[in-house]
Amino acid sequence: MNINIFENADEVAVAAGNVFAEQLKVKPNSVFSFATGSTPVKMYDYLAQLNRKNEISFKDVTTFNLDEYVGIESDDVNSYYYFMHKNLFDKIDINCENTHILNGKAEDPEKECEDYERLIEQSGGIDIQLLGVGVNGHIGFNEPSNIFADKTFVVKLTESTIEVNSAYFPNNDIPLSAFTMGIGSIMRAKKIVFIATGKTKAHAVKEMAKGDISPKNPASILRFHQNAYIFLDKEAAALL
Ligand code: F6R
Repeated sequence: MNINIFENADEVAVAAGNVFAEQLKVKPNSVFSFATGSTPVKMYDYLAQLNRKNEISFKDVTTFNLDEYVGIESDDVNSYYYFMHKNLFDKIDINCENTHILNGKAEDPEKECEDYERLIEQSGGIDIQLLGVGVNGHIGFNEPSNIFADKTFVVKLTESTIEVNSAYFPNNDIPLSAFTMGIGSIMRAKKIVFIATGKTKAHAVKEMAKGDISPKNPASILRFHQNAYIFLDKEAAALL
């Protein structure tokens, strides 16, 4: 694991964003897997800025998102589809036909998961996987559990994740399950870019870097990835 600690979240965004920017210079048709949540927003802003200045282009890029709530319409403001368009896709020159997000309203969830894995494989595999981390150590929506899931699946969200999410669903219509790429799908990426900022993440970061490698602590598996780059601000790194 290559751990990099920065003064603040702005510096984390630039450093992590530059990994994507450099990759695009080497391979313009890269395959990226993106995360949602508050942590990557600054990095997406930075990538959009570089794109506006014509320093990088996403026109040949393919993307897969890590996860999506089950039962949510894509135009719902809380869907990850909506999030990605608002925070990144609408601001860059990407061809939206090449952006893939699991369909929260899929009639056959099992088939949705299988199709997604097939699409990832057909794309040639993920060049860079972006990850944030939950306060409970989840990556994507791979919650603490007794097993590491290999492929994309439907997961029941834990109480702690539901509680964190409740802030975003004021009418109490909080999703209880989600689609997520599995730990195997994440680990098959050629490179991992993991970002965490703020003191609420310090415990999860310490457990990832130093705790037992166990599905009870999903992010800990990243210690087995050959090419994982960890970008932290001082607060998230405080317990290392
Ligand atoms: C979302 C995802 C989640 C988040 C995690 C942290 O696509 O993969 O694992 O990365 O919940 O979320 P924030 O950044 O909001 O603290």
